[in-house]
Amino acid sequence: MAKADAQNSDYIVIKAIEDGVNVIGLTRGTDTKFHHSEKLDKGEVMIAQFTDHTSAIKIRGHAQILTSLGEIESELKK
Ligand code: TRP
Repeated sequence: MAKADAQNSDYIVIKAIEDGVNVIGLTRGTDTKFHHSEKLDKGEVMIAQFTDHTSAIKIRGHAQILTSLGEIESELKK
C-alpha cells in the first residue's frame, strides 16, 4: 500500500434515495479534478474508499451517506 493507512482504510456507504444520484470522485494532489462518476438508481448502494487517487467525493442527488463521522443525507435542490 503506497500511502498512509488512514487515507485508505475508511469506507463510506452511499445509498440512493432517488434515481440518478451521482457519486463523483475528485483527484488527490495539486489539482482537483473529477476522475470518476458513478450513477446510482433508487435503492442502489455504493461502498467506496478514499484512495491514492481520490481525496474527495461529491454526491449529487438525494442519498443517505454513512461515514465514520456519522450519517448525513444529501438533498437535490428543486
Ligand atoms: N479507481 C478509483 C480510485 O481508486 C475508484 C474510487 C475509489 C472511487 N473511491 C472512490 C470513485 C470514490 C468514486 C468515488 O480512486
